[in-house]
Amino acid sequence: SPRPPAPSTDLERLGAETGMDLSTMPAGLAQRLAAIGSDFRQLTLEYEFALREVETKMHILQDEFLHLHDYNPIEHVSTRLKTLDSLVAKSNRRELPMDLGVWRREILDIAGTRVTCSFRRDVYRVFELFTERQDVEVISVKDYIAQPKANGYSSLHATVRVPVYLSTGVVLIPVEIQFRTIAMDFWASLDHKIKYKYDGEVPADVVDELREAAQAADDLDRRMESLHDRVHGNVRGNVR
Ligand code: GTP
Ligand code: MG
Repeated sequence: SPRPPAPSTDLERLGAETGMDLSTMPAGLAQRLAAIGSDFRQLTLEYEFALREVETKMHILQDEFLHLHDYNPIEHVSTRLKTLDSLVAKSNRRELPMDLGVWRREILDIAGTRVTCSFRRDVYRVFELFTERQDVEVISVKDYIAQPKANGYSSLHATVRVPVYLSTGVVLIPVEIQFRTIAMDFWASLDHKIKYKYDGEVPADVVDELREAAQAADDLDRRMESLHDRVHGNVRGNVR
């Protein structure tokens, strides 16, 4: 099959690399993005390295815990990098200038990691072990488990900075980490799909159902944890 012609301009190259449809953008904005294109590639690389660092630290923590306590506190670790599209959208929402330096300072969730655990207790345990590390600097913590959002959203969020070693020196890169249980994750992914489906305008009865479902997920978390403790004993209560 014939290959598409090689991109010839900065703009076409950026479009090809990011999958963005730059033709629908105001020309000025697209030109501005093209101008920052190569700096954006550098940024992407650094944030990608930061994600790998966090993922590795998380897996080391998991393996060590398994070795010491014969118990796996983490079900799943996933990572994602904000696309240029959604960076531009967030920048516009927050009325920030189209400037990578400003984005680096102001947008702290360009790199994101999600850590899913079986039980609420493990969520806090993994969070503590991770944030206690010398090479992890905690910037902020939001505990939506202790204080769920009005819609029912529940998770433990931490924004941290981790060092990334480049040939030119070390850079500190912010990463947003969401720690949650499987039940919280199940709820959040349905909530996300519903918001997407209704384009943010979710009908009141669906909002109510979602809030009730969040309550059910919370009940399930508590019951599963207490059942687990009954069978295994809370043998992990005195580790660390
Ligand atoms: P953002 O501008 O969305 O980053 O909000 P924020 O900076 O005030 O942070 P917040 O802690 O509210 O949310 C950060 C992230 O948590 C979001 O990007 C989502 O991934 C997740 N999140 C927060 N609230 C909800 C929610 O109600 N439903 C779902 N599904 N996810 C949520
Ligand atoms: Mg955020």
